[in-house]
Amino acid sequence: MIPVKTFAARRRSIASRMQGVAILPTAREQVRNRDAHFPYRFDSYFYYLTGFREPEAVLVIVADPGNEDKTRHILFCRDKDPEREIWEGFRYGPEAAGEAFGFDEAYSIIKLEEMMPRLLADQPAVYCALGQDASWDTRLTGWVNRVREQARSGVTAPAQIRDIRLLLDEMRLFKGAEELEVMRGAAEISCGAHRRAMLKTGPGMGEYEIEAELLYEFRRRGAQSPAYTSIVAGGANACVLHYVENNARLKDGELLLIDAGCELDGYASDITRTFPVNGTFSAPQRDLYEVVLAAQEAAIAAVRPDNHWNVPHEAALQILAQGFIDLGLCQGSVDGVIQSEDYKRFYMHRTGHWLGLDVHDAGEYKQNGTWRALQPGMTLTVEPGCYVRPSENVPAYFWNIGVRIEDDVAVTGIGCEVLTSAAPKSVAQIEELMRNREA
Ligand code: GLY
Ligand code: MN
Ligand code: MN
Repeated sequence: MIPVKTFAARRRSIASRMQGVAILPTAREQVRNRDAHFPYRFDSYFYYLTGFREPEAVLVIVADPGNEDKTRHILFCRDKDPEREIWEGFRYGPEAAGEAFGFDEAYSIIKLEEMMPRLLADQPAVYCALGQDASWDTRLTGWVNRVREQARSGVTAPAQIRDIRLLLDEMRLFKGAEELEVMRGAAEISCGAHRRAMLKTGPGMGEYEIEAELLYEFRRRGAQSPAYTSIVAGGANACVLHYVENNARLKDGELLLIDAGCELDGYASDITRTFPVNGTFSAPQRDLYEVVLAAQEAAIAAVRPDNHWNVPHEAALQILAQGFIDLGLCQGSVDGVIQSEDYKRFYMHRTGHWLGLDVHDAGEYKQNGTWRALQPGMTLTVEPGCYVRPSENVPAYFWNIGVRIEDDVAVTGIGCEVLTSAAPKSVAQIEELMRNREA
C-alpha cells in the first residue's frame, strides 16, 4: 500500500511547479445498462495525487509557489448518506476523507459549483486534463465565464488553460520504491495466474475456461481486477493481436498465447506467455519460439540506464530478422530485411510500452524529437512476437503460429529488474511444468 504521506508529497511537488489552480476530477461511473454499472475504476491522475478511490470526487489545488503557506489542497467528495450506504456501501464523507487522505480542506461535492468561481478568481492559470471529458471541459469554461462576469468589480479570470498532464506524466514515469513494491506484487500474482493456466490447459478445453483460471487466480490473491481484457488465443487466433473473444476450443498440437495481467491497488502488470496446448512444442513451433525468446532476451539485456527508448526494440529486430531469414520467412540480409521493413509481415508491433497505473502508462517516448534515455525507476514491458498468417511464400508448417513473450521490467542503476521472471519462459521450463498437469 502506498502511504498517505506519499500522495500528499506528490501534491506538494505538483503545486511547486504550477501557478494557478489545478482541477482534477476522478472518473465517472459508467452505466452498463439501465441502473447496472460497469465495475468502477478511478481516474489514474486523480488517484496518483489522492489515493482516494470513490467516484464523484474532485481534487483542486490552488498553488502559489512563491508563497507555500497560501497553497491549498482541497478534496471535494460525496457526503455521507446512511440511506445510500445501505444500498451501495461505505462512503467517507468530506470530514473523514479529509482526515484519512491528508487534506486540510475537504467539502461536499455539492459545493463544487458554488466554490469554483471563487477559487478561480484572480488566478493566472487553470491546470486540467482538457479534452479528457467534454462535460468537465464545459463546466470549467462555465466557471471561468462566471469569474469574467465579475470583471467590473475588479476580479480577473484565468488567462491560460494549461494541460496538467504534461507535469503529471513526467512524475508518473519515474516509479518510487513504494510503487515498485506494488508493481512487484501485481507481477507476482500474474505470474501465478500464468503458471496456473499452463497447469490447467489441455486439448478440448475452451479458451474461456483458461480465462476463468486466470481471473480466479487474480481475485483469489487479492488483485482487484484484470489490468486489461485478457487475450486467450489458441492456434490461429494468436495471430489476431487484440483477440479477446476467448470462445474457441483448444486443439491438440496448437499453441496457446495468453496476454493477461492483473491490476493491484491501481498498478498494472502485463504478461504474455505462449505454450503448447498438449504440453510439448512441435519442431516448427519451437523454432519460431526460440527466435522470439532470443529476441526478447536481447531486448531485456538492452534495458539499462542511458540506452534510449528504442534500443531494446532495435536489439529485438536484429535477432528477429536473422531468425526470419534462417527459417525461410524472409530473404536477404538482416540490414536489408530491417530497412525494407519486410519483417513487418510477421512482427508488426513495437517491443514495449511504459507500464504503471495504466497498462499503456503515461510518459513521453521522445523528447525534442529524439528517443529519451532510459533511467532508473522507469518501468516498461518487453514483448516481441512473431505472427505467421497463411501465405504462399511462407512454409506451410509455420502457418497460423503466433508467438509473443512479454515481461515487465524496471530500470535499475545498472540494468533492469525483471518483475515477471516467475512465469516459466524457456521451452524446457514450460514443458517441465506442463508435465506436472493433473491427468
Ligand atoms: N496487453 C496489452 C499489451 O501488451 O500492450
Ligand atoms: Mn500484454
Ligand atoms: Mn504490453
